[in-house]
Amino acid sequence: MNPNHSGSEILENANPIISVIGAGAMGSQIAHRLFQSGAGPILTNLDGRSPETCKRAAASGMKDTSYADIVSRATYILSVVPPRDAFAIAKIIADTVKSSNAEETTPSQPRTKLVFIDCNAVNPSSAKQMAKLFVNTSATFIDGAIVGGPPSEVYNPGLYICADPNNQAVLDELEATLEKYGLQPFSLKGEGAGIGDASAVKMANSGIVKGTIALFTSMILASYTSSPSTSQGLLHSLHISQSTFINQMIRLVPQMTPKAYRFVGEMKEVAKFTEDQGLEDIGCIYEGAARIFQQIANAHEARGREHGRNPVYRIGERSEHDEIDVLLAVIENARILEAGEGGKSWGPSFK
Ligand SMILES: NC(=O)c1ccc[n+]([C@@H]2O[C@H](COP(=O)([O-])OP(=O)(O)OC[C@H]3O[C@@H](n4cnc5c(N)ncnc54)[C@H](OP(=O)(O)O)[C@@H]3O)[C@@H](O)[C@H]2O)c1
Repeated sequence: MNPNHSGSEILENANPIISVIGAGAMGSQIAHRLFQSGAGPILTNLDGRSPETCKRAAASGMKDTSYADIVSRATYILSVVPPRDAFAIAKIIADTVKSSNAEETTPSQPRTKLVFIDCNAVNPSSAKQMAKLFVNTSATFIDGAIVGGPPSEVYNPGLYICADPNNQAVLDELEATLEKYGLQPFSLKGEGAGIGDASAVKMANSGIVKGTIALFTSMILASYTSSPSTSQGLLHSLHISQSTFINQMIRLVPQMTPKAYRFVGEMKEVAKFTEDQGLEDIGCIYEGAARIFQQIANAHEARGREHGRNPVYRIGERSEHDEIDVLLAVIENARILEAGEGGKSWGPSFK
């Protein structure tokens, strides 16, 4: 066990003990919201984690301890890690439950049953694979998904949860607990509901929101490649036919460029989701979305190599224009158009 672990110092109280695995942009803010709302110290495991993650964990009321300690103390474990690590974390918890004889209780220390919630952007079949790890253990698997940005003073993302039909009471208790501690849970129940549905919400939401960003990006690039005036014509045509698209483009496209690398995997998951639902011909749309995001991610990385990790983009800064130059130039034109500053001849392509 890590010598810095302070599991034995953690004060237990009447509240259910909550653990959040993953102190990234999302996990740390979920933990912070729980902690600030009175849930007590939030257990986590920081073995092998980066200094940035350890810093975020400390600032969010998280306490580093071993997986064995987490499994023996916690009632709820939320996994909030990159999707590629989701299965590995579920397996660690399931294996720890099995090997820790967690079922054993003593009259003086009755154990509360453990509930593991996978909150990651995976497709429903991955969630079902994870659920299998918990069959014949004392722990209950809950499929979860987060839609929206990390919790903040002014914002609360949606946390969608669902369970096997036999575990509806556990789901209700989880929903009440998350609500009590300041999160915004939404449980999926009723006819036909079960494991995979929360992940399906995430996939369908991503398919619409990030799929739309991929369409905007592709058509901006394609029209500009045809000629700069084609991209201006495109913006004008959207302005007179679908003006809300202009507003969405301005809002969504520039903020996508540093996150494009994350969207690649998510679009591949959405492709698998559509294929699993019997929409085999639709998967290729999202494979294409993954490829366009990969192209933007490559441009972003190349800029990072040139300018440091978080480059500030300035149109015209470079002699050769990459995809990000083009996107930002066209979006600037969209802003000019939306602000009503241009007539027929609005907007330069590059300054
Ligand atoms: N950020 C958002 O706005 C958002 C929105 C909706 C849903 N989500 C979902 O939330 C999940 C996490 O996303 P994020 O944005 O928070 O990612 P992130 O900022 O990249 O952070 C991931 C965190 O997980 C840690 N981690 C990686 N592998 C781990 C492991 N094996 N055990 C424990 N910790 C591990 C990383 O630590 P290191 O620093 O050491 O690598 C890092 O702290 C994803 O499934 C994502 O789809 C995020």
